[in-house]
Amino acid sequence: MPLISPSLLSADFGHLQRDIEMLNKSECDWFHLDVMDGVFVPNISFGFPVMEAMACHAQKPLDVHLMIVQPEKFIPQVKALGAKVMNVHYEACTHLHRVVQQIKSEGMMAGVTLNPHTPVSVLEEIAPDLDLVMLMSVNPGFGGQKFIENAVDKTRRLRELLDSRQSAALIEIDGGVNRETGQRLTKAGADVLVAGSAIFNAPNPQEEIHILRSL
Ligand code: DX5
Ligand code: ZN
Repeated sequence: MPLISPSLLSADFGHLQRDIEMLNKSECDWFHLDVMDGVFVPNISFGFPVMEAMACHAQKPLDVHLMIVQPEKFIPQVKALGAKVMNVHYEACTHLHRVVQQIKSEGMMAGVTLNPHTPVSVLEEIAPDLDLVMLMSVNPGFGGQKFIENAVDKTRRLRELLDSRQSAALIEIDGGVNRETGQRLTKAGADVLVAGSAIFNAPNPQEEIHILRSL
């Protein structure tokens, strides 16, 4: 049974409070917040003022995904939001070990995210220090994209790597997750599923969360 982290990127931004309250009443586990800077990824989403407003209404832990360059600059601000998980991209951090230690010293779970082209082997040395590894199963920047199939085998390889390094890190998957891909990912070893369009475009989002959670 995976944890479900709905991506608010697919929410109706004109009715954010309504959508957050719908999620509060659902069985979802976390709220996934996608921050984009127009530099690391070719899109801009929302930043701290909007996330502060979301945090006021959210009654579940925040899972913040920073698709930005120099994410270490914002560790105190993410902490101030009350986030549970801070996800930074491997590709955005020259001194990843230092960034991971800083996130943990603020009392948050340190998550490292890999783009689709980045092999899991780059985490070999740092795996024991991580609380979570997130695999992108689309190229980051947009919701509603097609799932990249390689992510299923990659999840299996990541599970093997984490086991071999005695790392208790959770495996989270982000992008193109729906009932069908979610089932295969869970079987391959995923612990947390992010889903945006599959939840918000469903006729009954709460029912969809229930189904994803029972995969
Ligand atoms: C993509 C974001 C994802 C996205 C997922 O850059 O990181 O969290 O919102 O959306 P779906 O589930 O629609 O692929
Ligand atoms: Zn995301």
